Amino acid sequence: MPRTQTQPAPPGQWSVAQAPGGLPLLGHLLPMRRRPLEFLTSLQYEGDLVRLNMKGQPLYMACHPELIDQMLKDPRTFDRGGPFYEKTQLLMGNSLGNCPYADHRRQRRLVQPSFRRERIASYPAVIREETEAETATWHPGGTIDANARMHAITARIGARVLLSTDMARDHVDQIVRCLPIVLKGIYRRMVAPIDLVHRIPSPERRGFESALEELRVLIDTVIRDYREAGVDHGDLLSGLLAARYEDGDRLADQEIHDQVMNFLTASTETTATALAWALQLLGRHPEYERRLQEEADAFMALDGPAGHGPGDLPYTGRVVTEVLRLYPPGWFVTRVVSTDTELGGQSLPAGTVVFYSSYALHHHRDLFPDPERFDPDRWTPERVKEVPKGAMIPFGSGSRKCIGDDYAMAETSIALATIASRWQLRPTSVTPVRPTPRALVGMGALPVVTQPRG
Ligand code: HEM
Repeated sequence: MPRTQTQPAPPGQWSVAQAPGGLPLLGHLLPMRRRPLEFLTSLQYEGDLVRLNMKGQPLYMACHPELIDQMLKDPRTFDRGGPFYEKTQLLMGNSLGNCPYADHRRQRRLVQPSFRRERIASYPAVIREETEAETATWHPGGTIDANARMHAITARIGARVLLSTDMARDHVDQIVRCLPIVLKGIYRRMVAPIDLVHRIPSPERRGFESALEELRVLIDTVIRDYREAGVDHGDLLSGLLAARYEDGDRLADQEIHDQVMNFLTASTETTATALAWALQLLGRHPEYERRLQEEADAFMALDGPAGHGPGDLPYTGRVVTEVLRLYPPGWFVTRVVSTDTELGGQSLPAGTVVFYSSYALHHHRDLFPDPERFDPDRWTPERVKEVPKGAMIPFGSGSRKCIGDDYAMAETSIALATIASRWQLRPTSVTPVRPTPRALVGMGALPVVTQPRG
């Protein structure tokens, strides 16, 4: 009987398989471009480690949770890298999410205090305020694109968490305008078959470059203003300005600039996408929506948002967790082998690209029974024990695990509860919106009718 992914491999008995299909020259490029989620999910059943070929280059997909864990817990050997990282450097330089192992520990120690729970404790008020400001523009019976509206909410929240002062208010609007243009442009450059495409003058190139420049100038201006004011505003930028390396050195302005870009790009699209998926799923599952509404009503009745956070929203948290299982925004995570090594018994020379897909893992039927079913009760304290170790990793694992995980859970849960306390959103189409795997597992437009709750 074949071993399932819930069972550890006996020593030395990992299965290494060749991905089926593959064409001369192109290798597995076509299924990876055309239907990557289905293709990678199918590979989960081929072996513990699966070898693919991309235009003549071999690369390996770690499929068994234990092998993924080995790869993530050895960041020196499985270092930051892979086909996309050069392009993100254009935007984020050598920031936390982008830097190699050699710089990572030092950077992580420095940035971590800005993400402590005490600092995050002041965010619920901002999250509620910005969500309420957005929903105040909705009309009973109107139709909105819920995906676009969630992006608008999280961009505003992200910008305000970063910059909380009144002087920053205009800057927030500018960030909200420029950020989507920059993110779209970076993604296009990541997947362009040849670099030249984006060197040719075009309206897209002009728009991208001018939005990027505007964002860069703005961030530099704000850093300078904050330094001159010399006050701790309790926001993320103040945290970065106050941070000191172990030797007492502070971050240079360029380093702060890169971390700010990293924060803005990593925080807004991810949570917006999670919120949009949650709204689609709740709109199609009124039984779960009702339970969430009950909790949301109690949450909103608490006196004042300060001091009340995701701890008051356990059911909503389970809904968000299940959304992140079904549609983990960071669906494809790569590493590059820095020195010759082995994984699952397979020798991997330095320079080999290894990756895993949280989407494929989370949809494996050995790990999650009936994996396509939306079932927030998988995450009750009793049932969560049934989830195999290492099977649920929407935020990654090891020393490079998402630094914003608590913040992301807080933002998504509070924004969802704020919406659900007043509104029911009903999809206009009987056909669910399908995932579009790009840099994140996102979606196109999500048209919904906004119905006020009785
Ligand atoms: C639902 C929301 C989010 C998801 C699913 C998510 C997912 C991830 C994943 C999978 C990684 C690890 C990537 C790897 O191992 O290569 C990561 C890293 C990171 N995330 Fe998130 N993220 C989310 C929200 C956020 C937010 C809100 C922030 C900022 C406040 C953030 C900032 C970062 C940073 C800076 C890193 C790099 C960490 C390091 O290398 O030390 N993320 N995220």
